Amino acid sequence: MVEFSLPRNSKVLKGQHHKAPQGAKSVKKFKVYRYDPDQDKNPQLDIYEVDIESCGPMVLDALIKIKNEIDPTLTFRRSCREGVCGSCAMNVDGTNTLACIKGINEINGDAKIYPLPHMPVIKDLVPDLSIPYAQYESIKPWVQADSPAPGSERLQSPEERAELDGLWECVLCFCCQTSCPSYWWNGDRYLGPAILLQAYRWIADSRDENTGERLDALEDPFKLYRCHTIMNCTNTCPKSLNPALAIAKTKKLMVERM
Ligand code: SF4
Ligand code: SF4
Ligand code: FES
Repeated sequence: MVEFSLPRNSKVLKGQHHKAPQGAKSVKKFKVYRYDPDQDKNPQLDIYEVDIESCGPMVLDALIKIKNEIDPTLTFRRSCREGVCGSCAMNVDGTNTLACIKGINEINGDAKIYPLPHMPVIKDLVPDLSIPYAQYESIKPWVQADSPAPGSERLQSPEERAELDGLWECVLCFCCQTSCPSYWWNGDRYLGPAILLQAYRWIADSRDENTGERLDALEDPFKLYRCHTIMNCTNTCPKSLNPALAIAKTKKLMVERM
């Protein structure tokens, strides 16, 4: 029989338990993944007891309170706290989401917080996004047009502009990307739902004149066709976008031009 052994540091150990301060009125436990690849130690799950009576309403508020008042070594990304920068993406209670728009009261029982799955971890809740960003650059995310602009701007009709709805709102949080089983197994060659939604965003833009070249660049057994319509991406998007639909529309354009 073949025996498989997991890498030594794949096991998440029990970590520290930080008790709530005396007099805390409403205590909720946050179980948070901690890992520093520079230390020769396994990841661990630390428990922080937070008085949510004296905390903002969102999961990000609790993490900021933990960092400010309990454990300054806890590391996570955040910026806008309005759901528009995409930097606070993490796995909360088994679902990839943006911590700043996830209400603490949406979580029953203890809150379990991990980094986005299947990505190398830089520290704690911060994943290494170098590969998805390089893939984003590869789709040339800007208007490409060789003809001279008709005026000071390249205008669109309201109908042409409406074609971009459901695409421009993407904040590149990579919640969808890291929920996609095809991306887990082939992330070095499959572009993944976030990048394919972005690729379609430029294909669908009436001002862009390189649609053919853009489709040529995606005509590849791995880059596009590793999507098997499993739909995790659409189910998890915290901005309620539909990357699977953008991928389906791209595949349809491929067929139509044959
Ligand atoms: S629909 Fe495609 S991109 Fe979305 S999760 Fe499934 S395989 Fe991945
Ligand atoms: S489609 Fe949604 S989940 Fe995916 S990167 Fe954009 S905003 Fe994030
Ligand atoms: S902090 Fe910007 S999306 Fe959460």
